[in-house]
Amino acid sequence: MTIGEALRQAGKRLQEAGIETGQAEAIALWGLIDSSAFVDRSANVDSEKLAKFQYFVDRRARREPFSHISGRRMFYKSSFRVTPDVLDPRPDTETLVELALSKPFNRVLDLGTGSGCILISLLIERPEATGVGTDISHKAVLVAGENAARLGMADRLVLPLSDWYDDIGGRFDLIVSNPPYIAAGEMEALQPEVRDYEPRAALTDEADGLTAYRRISSRALQHLKPGGRLLVEIGPTQGAAVSSLFREGGLENVEVHHDLDRRERVVSGVAPSV
Ligand SMILES: C[S@@+](CC[C@H](N)C(=O)[O-])C[C@H]1O[C@@H](n2cnc3c(N)ncnc32)[C@H](O)[C@@H]1O
Repeated sequence: MTIGEALRQAGKRLQEAGIETGQAEAIALWGLIDSSAFVDRSANVDSEKLAKFQYFVDRRARREPFSHISGRRMFYKSSFRVTPDVLDPRPDTETLVELALSKPFNRVLDLGTGSGCILISLLIERPEATGVGTDISHKAVLVAGENAARLGMADRLVLPLSDWYDDIGGRFDLIVSNPPYIAAGEMEALQPEVRDYEPRAALTDEADGLTAYRRISSRALQHLKPGGRLLVEIGPTQGAAVSSLFREGGLENVEVHHDLDRRERVVSGVAPSV
C-alpha cells in the first residue's frame, strides 16, 4: 500500500466515525510517525509505520482526542504535555491569558491549574512574576509540574493540592481560574472527545455549572491585594450570573469580556483599594 492510499483510507474512516475534518486529521496523524518535510505519497509504506499509523487512526476513530494521541497541545505560545488526567487546553482560554496580561502583576494564583497552561503562559510573559497553581487532582498537579519543568518555569511556581482556596495562604495581585462550568444536564450533549475522554471533574460541578464561581468569588477578597484582579473563564450564557456572584463577593468594576467569536468568555472584577 502507498502512503497516499493509506492516508485516503484513514481519512475516509475518520469521516465515517463522525470527524468532519477526517482527511486533515489523517495527515496530522501521519505527521506523528513521520516528520519528514516531504512525503512522497506514491512510495510504499513500511509495515512498521503502517501498523503504528493504523493504531493511531483506530484510536482517533473511537473519538479519542488528537491531543491524547500526540500527547501535546499548543496553547498561547508554548507546547504543553497533555494526558487524560488534564483538560485539553482550549484556544478559547487564551482570551483569559490576554486579559490577564493587559495589566501588571507580580504574584498570581491559578485555581484549577490542570496542565498548568494558564499559569505557565503568564509566567513566561512576566519574567519577574511568581505563581501558585492549585488543583484538587493530584494527577493534574503532576502534569502541571512536568510542563513547568520542561518550559523552564519550575523555580517560579508552586503547585499545592487544594480544594479551591482551602490550603492557600497569602494575597495575590491577580487570581485567574478556568473552573469546571458545564451543568450536569449539559454533559450528555458534549462531543464524544470531551464527554468520554476528558476528566469529568475538569468539566462539570455535577450541578448548575456555577458552584466553582460561588466558591471562588465569595472568598476572593481574602486572597487579593487591594486593587488586585480576579479573572474567570465562563460559559457563553453565564456572564450575568457570574457578574452577580462577583458583586456579592465585594468585587468592583465587574465586567464581562467577549472572545473573538463575540461570545461571553471572561468575567473580571477588582478588589477595592483601601
Ligand atoms: C476546566 S479545567 C481547567 C484546567 C486548566 N486551567 C485549563 O484552563 O486548561 C478545571 C480544573 O479545575 C480542577 N478542579 C475541579 N474542582 C476543583 C476544586 N474543588 N478545587 C481545585 N481545583 C478543582 C480540575 O481538576 C481541573 O483541572
